[in-house]
Amino acid sequence: PRRIRTLDLIKAKAEGRRWAMLTSYDQYTAALFEQAGVEALLVGDSAANNVFGHATTLPVTVDELIPLARAVASATNRALIVADLPFGSYEISDEQAVATAVRFMKEAGVHAVKLEGGARMASRIRAITNAGIPVMAHIGFTPQAEHNLGGYKVQGRGEAGTALLDDARAVAAAGAFSVVMEMVPTGLAGQVTAELKVPTVGIGAGAETDAQVLVWQDMAGLRTGRAPRFVKRYADLHSVLTEAVETYVDEVKSGVFPEPERSFD
Ligand code: KIV
Ligand code: NA
Repeated sequence: PRRIRTLDLIKAKAEGRRWAMLTSYDQYTAALFEQAGVEALLVGDSAANNVFGHATTLPVTVDELIPLARAVASATNRALIVADLPFGSYEISDEQAVATAVRFMKEAGVHAVKLEGGARMASRIRAITNAGIPVMAHIGFTPQAEHNLGGYKVQGRGEAGTALLDDARAVAAAGAFSVVMEMVPTGLAGQVTAELKVPTVGIGAGAETDAQVLVWQDMAGLRTGRAPRFVKRYADLHSVLTEAVETYVDEVKSGVFPEPERSFD
């Protein structure tokens, strides 16, 4: 089976077929997720939280994200691989944005990039697209701007709905092949989805979008503690891994492991 392309995802929307996206930051999850049927993988700047242990997405750098993206791209042959442009790597100018996107294409071998922001980023989206690189837009709650937005909040409620609709139109007009909407009211996300020709990807945006995305450590229950309302835990990897490691530690200490059949004469 050949690699999924942006046009396939746009066609899926036209034909009323939904698709699934998950984050991935390493070869094992990437290969497993595409084998399990996930159409698009996001090497998110959420690696800042979920790989590097930062409190926000802001600290992660291009040099840190590229090796993860290369691992994900190399380990797959079917999924469309999208890499996030990290905070600080595209805000300064269209030229900076194109240069960063080119690095992800050349050095990581991804198939598209994602950046945060609506109408204010239209010029960046157009510039990167004109360089031959597909762009996934990200509107609504944009974690890189959390200090500006005043924390994790639903975006586009009430009067702000007009601005969100304008953002969606602006990024689509600028050439985005898909639009992520994060923490947007269901009705508004549905309205955007109905209006745009390109597929929308929801995270905390209700069930009316064309696709969904989640952080894999959240959906697989590896991360514990309070999760956002939009997270659904499909497994409890934290418990599974804890039990395995506790048993290993016990067996090492009691001398049960390694058994004779795992040892050499
Ligand atoms: O970095 C990320 O994980 C994301 C999403 C979950 C959309 O941007
Ligand atoms: Na992100």
